[in-house]
Amino acid sequence: MGLLLLLTSVLLSNFFHSVRVVTAQQLFTIKDITLSIEPTPDVTRDTNVTLRCKASVSSSGQALSREYRIYKDGNTIYSKNTSTSEDLLYPLSEARVSNSGKYKCKISIERKDMMSGAEKLTVAGLSKPVLHINKGVVSEGEEVTAICTAPGETGSFFFYFYEDSKEIQEKQVNSNKAEARLRFSSTGYHKIHCGYTVLVTPNSFKSEESLSVTVSVKELPTVAVLEIFPKSKIYEGDKLDIFCSVKNLLRSSESINLYLSQGSQLLSSGYSTVNHSMVALAKDPGEFECRLEIGNVIKCDTKAVSVTELFSVPTLNMYPAEVFQREYMTLTCRSESSASERLGRDELTYTLDPTESPLISKVNGVFYGRALLYDFNYTCVAKAKEIVKRSETLTVRPKVSVSTPKISVVGRAVIGQSFKILCQSDIGSLPINYTLLWGYDQLNTTTVKEPFQQALFTVTVRKSDEISKYMCEARNSPKEAPLSKRLNATVIVPLTNPTLTVLPHLPEISEGDNLYLICGVNGTPPVTFKWYRVGNEHPLYTITTHRNNTDYRVSALSKEHSGMYYCEAINHANILVRSDPVTIEVRLALWKKVLIGGFYAAPLYDGTEGRVTNGARDSVASLPVDISNRSSYSIPATV
Ligand SMILES: *[C@@H]1O[C@H](CO)[C@@H](O)[C@H](O)[C@H]1NC(C)=O
Ligand SMILES: *[C@@H]1O[C@H](CO)[C@@H](O)[C@H](O)[C@H]1NC(C)=O
Ligand SMILES: *[C@@H]1O[C@H](CO)[C@@H](O)[C@H](O)[C@H]1NC(C)=O
Ligand SMILES: *[C@@H]1O[C@H](CO)[C@@H](O)[C@H](O)[C@H]1NC(C)=O
Ligand SMILES: *[C@@H]1O[C@H](CO)[C@@H](O)[C@H](O)[C@H]1NC(C)=O
Ligand SMILES: *[C@@H]1O[C@H](CO)[C@@H](O)[C@H](O)[C@H]1NC(C)=O
Ligand SMILES: *[C@@H]1O[C@H](CO)[C@@H](O)[C@H](O)[C@H]1NC(C)=O
Ligand SMILES: *[C@@H]1O[C@H](CO)[C@@H](O)[C@H](O)[C@H]1NC(C)=O
Ligand SMILES: *[C@@H]1O[C@H](CO)[C@@H](O)[C@H](O)[C@H]1NC(C)=O
Repeated sequence: MGLLLLLTSVLLSNFFHSVRVVTAQQLFTIKDITLSIEPTPDVTRDTNVTLRCKASVSSSGQALSREYRIYKDGNTIYSKNTSTSEDLLYPLSEARVSNSGKYKCKISIERKDMMSGAEKLTVAGLSKPVLHINKGVVSEGEEVTAICTAPGETGSFFFYFYEDSKEIQEKQVNSNKAEARLRFSSTGYHKIHCGYTVLVTPNSFKSEESLSVTVSVKELPTVAVLEIFPKSKIYEGDKLDIFCSVKNLLRSSESINLYLSQGSQLLSSGYSTVNHSMVALAKDPGEFECRLEIGNVIKCDTKAVSVTELFSVPTLNMYPAEVFQREYMTLTCRSESSASERLGRDELTYTLDPTESPLISKVNGVFYGRALLYDFNYTCVAKAKEIVKRSETLTVRPKVSVSTPKISVVGRAVIGQSFKILCQSDIGSLPINYTLLWGYDQLNTTTVKEPFQQALFTVTVRKSDEISKYMCEARNSPKEAPLSKRLNATVIVPLTNPTLTVLPHLPEISEGDNLYLICGVNGTPPVTFKWYRVGNEHPLYTITTHRNNTDYRVSALSKEHSGMYYCEAINHANILVRSDPVTIEVRLALWKKVLIGGFYAAPLYDGTEGRVTNGARDSVASLPVDISNRSSYSIPATV
C-alpha cells in the first residue's frame, strides 16, 4: 500500500513537471529597471513620498508574472507579485527622518531578475519632544515619573532627560516614547526637560529640546538630632553620653536607619534612637555625626567635642646622659602639664615598663639603680582616672669601661729612625682617647671612634734605654684612665766601626797555614757578615749570626791567596758598613809576617787552636773569645 502511494506520487510529479516546463516556455527579456523618488530625493518631514519602480520587459505577448522587491539599506521592505506591466509604486506617506536611506528595486520573472541602481532619500526635520511629569510638587525622596514623547516619529531612539543642562537619565527604546523615574537630592525647584535622537545607521539625528517642566521638592520635617552630655568642659576620662534620634517622623512606612559615628568609626546604628556611652579621650577626633537615612533622603546632625587633656604624654629622661655598666643612674618620668583643677597631684602615678626592671622608685616618677651590662629599653607609663599615656621608648646603652691598654712597637725600633707605637685596649666602648706618655709628659692624643681604627704614634729615639720611658693611657670616661706598662721592645743600634782582623799575625803568613779573617762591628745583632776579595764581585762567604763578630777561615793557604780582603756587615737598621781592606801576602818561608790593615793593634794568633794572644802582649784573659767551635772564632773587633 505505502509503496503504491509513493509510486503514484513520483509518477504524478513527473507529469506536472513536464506540463510546467511546457507552459513556462515563453520568450521574454528584461531590458531595464530604474527606481525614482517622487517628488524629490531630498524632502522635509511630512512630505508624501512615492518610490517608483519602472521595469522595461519585452515578451512574445502573454502576460508574465513579475515579482518586485524594494530594498532599504540592503533589507527587503516590500515585495509584490503582479502580472501587469505598470510601474510598481511604493508610498511613504508623511515621511520621517527614519525613512532616510538607500533604496533599490528588483524585478524577477521566472528565473531571470534585474536590480535597479540605488537612490538615496533624505528626510529632514524631527518633531519637538514633549515632556510630561506626573507630579509638580513632591517631598524629599519622593519619586516622579517623567514621560518624553517624540510625536509622530518612528525608528530607533535614544531619549535623554536633563536637569538644567545636566543629563540625568538616558533610555534606548524602539518606540517614540520613554519613561524615567526621577528623584531629587535637594529641596527647592528643579527644571526638567528632555530630548531625543533617532538612529538611522550609520547616522543619528538629534531633536530640539522639549519645553521644561518645574518640579518643586519640599523638605521633609523629619530631622536627625544629636545630643552629647555633658555639654561643656569635658576632660579626658569623663563619661560621654551620646544620643542620636529622629524628630517629626511623618511616614513610618519607609525604611529608616540611624548611624552614629565618630570620625570614620561607626559607633552604633539603629532605628528611631541610638545611644552610646564612652570615655572621652583627648587624642580622638572630636567630631560626632548622627545620620538619618529615610529611603534615599539623608539628614545629618554633627557636633564637635573638645576634650581637655588631664595630663600630657610623659617624657622619660636619664641622668647622667651616659652611664657605664653597673654605674648608678636615675630615670625621671614626668608629664609636663596637667589639669590641676581636675586632678590631684597624687592621682597621677608613673610606672616603668617593663615593671621587672632593676630600678627602684622612692619618689613618684623617679627611678634609681645600677645600669645593666646590656642595652635595655624603658618606657614610662603615666596613669590617672583610667587614662593611660606612655612615653617614647628610652634605650639605655651602658658603656663598657676601657681595659688596660697594651703598648707595642709596630715593626722595629731603630735608633735615629722614626717608627710607630701602637696603643690598644682589648675592650671598651668607643670613642676611646689614647694618650702617649714619655715619662710624665703627654706627647700626643688620638681618639679612636671606629672599630678597627688604631691609635698609632710616630716617635724617634736617640738612645736604647729611652724606649722604656714610653707608656700610654686609654680613656673613655671622665673617671678613670688605665695606664699601660712601660714599652718593652728591642731597640736596634745601627752598625758602626767595621773592622777586619787577620790571624795569624802579619807579616809571617806561610803556605799551608790556616788563615782567619775576623770581621767585627758595634751594633745590635743579628748581623749579616760578608767577606770579599778585592776584584771579585761575589762575596767569599756570607753568614748571619746573633753575635757582633765572627770569622771566615781559609785553610791550607797557597800563594794564590795573596791579595786584598775586606768585609761588610748589615743588621735590621738596614745600614751597610764596610771595613778597610787588609793586604795579605802568603810567603814560601816558614816564618810568618803580619800585615796590619788598620791603625789599631790587632790580636795575635799563634796558630795553635784555642790560644790567642794580644799583639801588645796584654792580658789574654781580657779578651772574651769564644773558642767552642773549631771553625769559627770570635773576638772583639776593637780593644
Ligand atoms: C498625504 O497623504 C495623506 C493620506 O495618506 C493625506 O491625508 C495628506 O493630505 C497628504 N498630504 C499632502 C501634503 O498631500
Ligand atoms: C510571488 O510568487 C513567488 C513565486 O510564485 C512566491 O514565491 C512569492 O511568495 C510570491 N510573493 C508574494 C508577495 O506573493
Ligand atoms: C536611649 O536613651 C533614651 C533616653 O535616655 C531612651 O528613652 C531610649 O530608650 C534609649 N534607646 C536605646 C536604644 O537604648
Ligand atoms: C629597643 O627598642 C628598639 C626599637 O625601639 C629595638 O630595635 C631594640 O632591639 C630594643 N632593644 C632591646 C634591648 O630590647
Ligand atoms: C700627634 O699625632 C698626630 C697624628 O698622628 C700628628 O699629626 C701630630 O703631629 C702629633 N702631634 C705631636 C705633637 O706629636
Ligand atoms: C677625648 O678627647 C676629645 C678631644 O680632645 C675630648 O673632647 C673628649 O672629652 C675626650 N674624651 C674623654 C672621655 O676624655
Ligand atoms: C721584655 O720582654 C721580654 C720578652 O718579650 C721579656 O723576657 C722581658 O722580661 C720583658 N722585660 C720587662 C721589663 O718586662
Ligand atoms: C757551633 O757550630 C754548630 C754547627 O757547626 C752550631 O750549631 C752551634 O750553634 C755553634 N756554637 C756556637 C757557640 O757558635
Ligand atoms: C759588640 O761587641 C763589642 C765589643 O767589640 C761589645 O762592646 C758590645 O757590647 C757588643 N754588642 C753591641 C750591641 O754592640
